[in-house]
Amino acid sequence: MNKSLRKPLVVGNWKMNKTPHECVELLDELIPMVSEVDRADIVVCVPFVDLCSAVEKTRGTNIRVGAQNVHSAPKGSFTGEISAEMLLEIGATSVIVGHSERRTYFGETDETVNLRARAALDAGLQTIICVGETLTDRDAGITEEVVGLQTKIALQNVSAEQMANVVIAYEPVWAIGTGRNASTAQAQEVCAQIRSIIGKIYGDFIADRTHILYGGSMNAANCADLLNEADIDGGLIGGASLKPVDFTVIVKAANNN
Ligand code: PGA
Repeated sequence: MNKSLRKPLVVGNWKMNKTPHECVELLDELIPMVSEVDRADIVVCVPFVDLCSAVEKTRGTNIRVGAQNVHSAPKGSFTGEISAEMLLEIGATSVIVGHSERRTYFGETDETVNLRARAALDAGLQTIICVGETLTDRDAGITEEVVGLQTKIALQNVSAEQMANVVIAYEPVWAIGTGRNASTAQAQEVCAQIRSIIGKIYGDFIADRTHILYGGSMNAANCADLLNEADIDGGLIGGASLKPVDFTVIVKAANNN
């Protein structure tokens, strides 16, 4: 597998943190710190209400802005939801779909993740699809099966052309926000399995060009080793993305990869 076919990608997942005002303050700090970075792509996925401020603040910089969820319908009676077209119109380029917190707390299933991902892809958004096993799955030795199934269902009816906008984020649930990251070997093993599944569905040309990220307690201290692995093309960063200094270390490690 030729890693040079994939420009490293670092995505910050701010989760439900930062008001619009605080969002601008954080970006004010971050923008100059990463302004020299040109060999890695940077996306910050902010709360819905921060999107407009974030898009405005990052205009003309090397940081793009994404959302953390999107509904599958183009419009209609879906109180509390946001459509892909709404995200596009305000200038978001990306969206996270199927984060484990959405699956755990908000009833997302592999099927709804697929529907949301397809809506985002139909609209032309970069779609960061999260997959990952629980600790029970890992202890039962079924990580490959669980992650494989999540990946296959998420990609159902996604065309080969749309794969150019697909990013898979491998996030073991037991590593998210726990300070307990997967070892480089564990992360690499599953990311390679995901690439092989993509290869079986879409062929090697597409598999070689699909970004696969690792997420789950990636931080300034462990990022270099993780990002060095053959099938890890970047990171989906939660806690550390709220700290400009730490996030910059991760972005620069990706930039040097
Ligand atoms: P974490 O979160 O980096 O805080 O573990 C990652 C994520 O949930 O995307």
